[in-house]
Amino acid sequence: MTVRISPSVLAADFSALGVSVAAVEAGGADLIHVDVMDGHFVPNLTIGPPVVKALHRTAHVPLDVHLMITDPERYIDAFADAGAAMISVHVEAATHLHRTITHIKERGIQAGAVINPSTPVSALEEIAPELDFALVMSVNPGFGGQHFITGSDTKITRVRRLLDAAGNPAPVEVDGGVDCGNAARLVAAGAEILVAGAAIFGTPDPTEATRALRAAASPRVDPVLPAAR
Ligand code: DX5
Ligand code: ZN
Repeated sequence: MTVRISPSVLAADFSALGVSVAAVEAGGADLIHVDVMDGHFVPNLTIGPPVVKALHRTAHVPLDVHLMITDPERYIDAFADAGAAMISVHVEAATHLHRTITHIKERGIQAGAVINPSTPVSALEEIAPELDFALVMSVNPGFGGQHFITGSDTKITRVRRLLDAAGNPAPVEVDGGVDCGNAARLVAAGAEILVAGAAIFGTPDPTEATRALRAAASPRVDPVLPAAR
């Protein structure tokens, strides 16, 4: 299984986003996670399409755009035009989820559905065959640097099983409180895309922190020891 690392620029220095992106790319980031918040669906305001457009100009890896906004349907075209490669929308915010997921895919973008910590896995049941990825929130969305909610790892496994039952090999992404201490467990639970903000940009060396997260997420290969005589 290939694990992809998606550093969240929410925790980066907004006055130097290009530098931050280059730093994590040098550490092997596979994606750049972009948190879009509207002050309505979540109690925080962040960025919109112009910043995504600027990130698209500077990034060499695909942009993984996480929409934490009410009625995301209204903004799919704007984020598609801005250069998103992946767009995820919350099942709690999208009234016509099937229409929105279809719209994202019609724009040639990978479409994902996100569930909050209190939303049951079954909320993804009908849409599961259509998804390019599913995102499990392991914190309540709105802020970076929160603690991983216990039990989110078993939720990842249940989403993995739901996708498998729908015959869909789409990856499961996990977002919130991911760090070197839990990465291996999350991958073992079925996560293939790890989002990390504070664990990468909250450190003095985001390049090294990206490398460290990948190493922590990789299955450990124990050295073959010579047999004892
Ligand atoms: C939370 C955001 C996350 C956040 C993760 O609402 O969706 O992507 O940036 O940050 P950490 O890794 O610091 O929990
Ligand atoms: Zn996010």
